[in-house]
Amino acid sequence: MSNTLFVEVVPSGKALGAEIKGVDLRTLSTEAFGRIKQGFHEHLVLTIRGQDLTDPDLIDFGKRFGVLEPPGMSIIGKPYLDDYPDVLVISNLKSDEGTPLGNLGDGEAIWHTDMSYRDVPCSAAILHAWEVPPSGGDTSFANQYLAYETLPHDLHEKIDGRIMVHDETYNSGGQLRKGFKEVTDPREAPGARHPIVRTHPVTGRKSLYLGRRRNGCILGLDLDDSEETLERLWAHATQPSLAWTHQWRKGDVLIWDNRCVLHRRDAFDPTARRMMHRVQIRGELPA
Ligand code: SIN
Repeated sequence: MSNTLFVEVVPSGKALGAEIKGVDLRTLSTEAFGRIKQGFHEHLVLTIRGQDLTDPDLIDFGKRFGVLEPPGMSIIGKPYLDDYPDVLVISNLKSDEGTPLGNLGDGEAIWHTDMSYRDVPCSAAILHAWEVPPSGGDTSFANQYLAYETLPHDLHEKIDGRIMVHDETYNSGGQLRKGFKEVTDPREAPGARHPIVRTHPVTGRKSLYLGRRRNGCILGLDLDDSEETLERLWAHATQPSLAWTHQWRKGDVLIWDNRCVLHRRDAFDPTARRMMHRVQIRGELPA
């Protein structure tokens, strides 16, 4: 059983991120899990290398953080794993018949927060690497507490108290979700409306909460003003000084806090294999 004595938390030295060493996620003591939870709130993204988790193991570990949230609509219109509908497969692989075995393909996944198009978005996601390409497919994270705290004064004034549209139509790989139509006016995009600035329910810190850029829209501003403001906000929120990048190895587990972190993924060689399994934790109404 992994206990706290052996849990080491090694910060990335960047704006966010830490590696947890000395644990087997299948056999965590309550104390060791408590240390991981504390590291999660301090560093926002945690890496744990060398894990060998089955889907039930991943589900059990996810449930230690809270209730699991089923993933958003896949591009095939149903869960990828019939036995484990709470698990989202992220992969470029296809069946012999050409059906995608997972979301996102091999292209870039643009900066985003998971499932912000829902009224109650997930609080955290846990991603486990089953197969990784020899290069590419790295995942970057950006600290949105710091993005909020370093906002230029005029932008701060402009977005104070405002609400944003979080479009559900496309996933972060630019793939149209099954059952959705292209959006022509972002003000009418399907998906949740959330405050642009939210307060973390555990840490009490404020962060920017931008969701994803495509079809994003700030309500109460005219469309041109909204576009211009969002361009500035996104450039600020994703600047390299706020970010850190993870290079994957098979067996890695990454946990990130969707309430205060944005993430994106690099493209990779389409002939290489990448297979990841993810669970999401139910969150709360952003406020
Ligand atoms: C995601 O959850 O957005 C995917 C990240 C990745 O594929 O590394």
